[in-house]
Amino acid sequence: FQYPAPSNEPVLTYAPGTKERELLKQTLKQLKSIEHDIPMYIGDKEVRTGKKIALRPPHEIAHTLGYFHEGDETHVQQAIDAALKAKAKWTALAWEDRAAIFLKAADLISTKYRSYINGTTMLGQSKNAFQAEIDSACELIDFLRWNVHFLSEIYRQQPVSSPGIHNRTEWRPLEGFVLAITPFNFTAIGGNLPTSAALCGNTVIWKPAYTQVFSAQMFMRILKEAGLPDGVINLIYVDGPVLGKVCFGHKDFAGIHFTGSTAAFNHIYKTIGENISHYRTYPRIVGETGGKDFVLAHESADADVLATALLRGAFEFQGQKCSAASRAYIPANLAASVKEKLVAGIKSFKIGTVEDFSNFINAVIDERSFNKIQSYLDKVKQDPTKATILAGGNSDKTKGYFIEPTVIEAKDPKFVTMCEEIFGPVLTIYVYPTGEFEKTLELVDSTSPYALTGSIIAQDRAAIDLATNRLRNAAGNFYINDKPTGAVVGQQPFGGARASGTNDKAGSMLNLYRWLSARTIKETF
Ligand code: NAD
Ligand code: ALA
Repeated sequence: FQYPAPSNEPVLTYAPGTKERELLKQTLKQLKSIEHDIPMYIGDKEVRTGKKIALRPPHEIAHTLGYFHEGDETHVQQAIDAALKAKAKWTALAWEDRAAIFLKAADLISTKYRSYINGTTMLGQSKNAFQAEIDSACELIDFLRWNVHFLSEIYRQQPVSSPGIHNRTEWRPLEGFVLAITPFNFTAIGGNLPTSAALCGNTVIWKPAYTQVFSAQMFMRILKEAGLPDGVINLIYVDGPVLGKVCFGHKDFAGIHFTGSTAAFNHIYKTIGENISHYRTYPRIVGETGGKDFVLAHESADADVLATALLRGAFEFQGQKCSAASRAYIPANLAASVKEKLVAGIKSFKIGTVEDFSNFINAVIDERSFNKIQSYLDKVKQDPTKATILAGGNSDKTKGYFIEPTVIEAKDPKFVTMCEEIFGPVLTIYVYPTGEFEKTLELVDSTSPYALTGSIIAQDRAAIDLATNRLRNAAGNFYINDKPTGAVVGQQPFGGARASGTNDKAGSMLNLYRWLSARTIKETF
């Protein structure tokens, strides 16, 4: 069964008067009108522990959406047992039958549950309608369909045979269970990490961030409706270290598909290393981690292209994308006009709840994040000799975790906000002397430990070429005359190296290879 490359799911606009806008508004009302009681899904059971944690929209913290039931070490163990129990049947299923379940889930999202997956993402993660649409509808559907295509391409690959000898490759799943740990910021990543491993025949424990539970459980229910057998994906809500204690000491731990901060991944990597002699097999370790993504402008850049790349790249979804533009290098000849465009752009952004579709900026995810972002703004305010705020800079957490989109101008190119991941609506620009492009390339490459995404904005082809070559290791996804966000599955495989991860490119065959363990079989006649 060869599954051809699918088309990407078309993005709906939610423009005033459209059917999708009306439906989404009704769904938001409906989702807010009941108190949700959200269980864990372990094997054939919906597990309610009674240890309830409240879910509140980050933009409206006085409202309670409902509660999810938190688990402990016993639930992690139950999830592992359920995954191991389900493994033999799941692996024995023809891969076309496994694929059919995920293709059906994609169709269910596209045609039946689009407003629900978008609605839960909007309310749970404070994404506006358009940002939810490109994430929890389109990107998630694309992952589900494209992974089937990628796997069909992998399965086709076979070694050569010769007279009297037949060679073949058997693409086995990993031996044991796979752990998927997912971040709050993309519902599509939450969906992709467990399903890509499961499609390859693995059974999975899925632990989302607590701030992602509302959309994660919605997706889990869709998978169940699509026919996912019990125990193939077990969705549990436990604290990271509790999960780690049970999983990383277990002999059947076969691999981890992680997306989240560099600090958490470093800790996990170290713990796995410390336990390495306990495992039946070397676990596959895939981590997609933090970023400090750059936009570098050359003196030949078009100022409008540059300003748009910065405004969209830095501020969509409040800058909470691993790919978000967060440091920019602007040549002096363009500085005045670009600063003016940035200030005007920020003034035009409306801030508020997701239910008002005219709001471009919503809340950041939680109080911890609000405080962290605030602490960076305080650093700027404390010492204006090093950096100043050009626009924004205010915040308010009385109704929700709102931070104004902020542009900082650093006088020192290695000022802290040029180096560290802030993960909020904060862009720092550094103006470099016109004519010092080559020197600035060095600066871009050496300022941060991350290497996830980056952009060059230029019209001069020689400058584009120079930046593309010199910044070879500075970004896993490199954009020419575009913002550094918004990779599309099947078009721009996504991931970075250095402190940004293992670069196993989500949305590509490369990623799926990590969930397979090949056996070579030679038969002599
Ligand atoms: P986070 O690291 O706080 O949490 C991510 C997940 O890891 C959560 O499920 C969390 O509970 C879990 N976790 C944390 N510590 C753990 C531990 N010790 N053991 C086991 N699990 C643990 O990240 P977040 O705030 O949810 O997401 C934002 C981060 O994710 C940013 O750094 C962002 O750059 C990164 N991210 C990267 C990519 C990428 O593709 N490179 C994509 C999205 C997000
Ligand atoms: N895939 C997401 C982007 O490119 C992270 O913005």
